[in-house]
Amino acid sequence: MNNTFIITVEEQNINFDPNDKTLLNNLEKNNVEVHYHCRDGFCGACRVTLAEGKIHYPNGEPLAFVGENEILPCCCIPASNIRLIIE
Ligand code: FES
Repeated sequence: MNNTFIITVEEQNINFDPNDKTLLNNLEKNNVEVHYHCRDGFCGACRVTLAEGKIHYPNGEPLAFVGENEILPCCCIPASNIRLIIE
């Protein structure tokens, strides 16, 4: 598995570090602010738009509602290079 996916967000390029376990942890470590509440795929507070690329939910599909092209960073990891739009 390729572990060096790049996350592009707000003109910033971040290397995904698999040790961070989730995309949310990785974004926080790089000072990208994302709202969150449960950090477990239930509340939907963390949803962001996936503009490009693919993600994967290692623990299965989350329960919170997400719109088309929206993802929950608290429980996903990148499956390719990705580009995010954070409102
Ligand atoms: S923080 Fe609750 S779904 Fe992500």
